[in-house]
Amino acid sequence: MTFDFLTSELVSHLLSPTPCCTLPFMDEFVEVAATSEIPTGGQLVVMTRGREVALFNVDGRVHAIDNICSHQGGPLGEGEFKGSIVRCPWHAWTFEVTTGVCTFHGEIKVEVFDVQVRGDRILVRVP
Ligand code: FES
Repeated sequence: MTFDFLTSELVSHLLSPTPCCTLPFMDEFVEVAATSEIPTGGQLVVMTRGREVALFNVDGRVHAIDNICSHQGGPLGEGEFKGSIVRCPWHAWTFEVTTGVCTFHGEIKVEVFDVQVRGDRILVRVP
């Protein structure tokens, strides 16, 4: 496999501390939103790599979990969100968005994804 399109200028740019773009195979984190789209206390659903991801801003820090509720697949990102807890809109199961753990049964979880903020951009790493 060759990567003829990777000129030294492009590589330097992509590896710079503030690139304007990234390539998924070079950086597992993918840009999904701008910080302005999700203020403190806010929530947002994004699609990346074929997955629905629910973003939540808890005290200025963005957390990302699977948008699909582990009960019966409800859209967690559309649920009521207070503090760091989201309530599934379908049957009211509640999850701690910083850990993905169900608040009433510690063995029930939704997947949690790593988040990075670079400047005014939010990036998520989804396997
Ligand atoms: S689908 Fe989420 S609580 Fe039932």
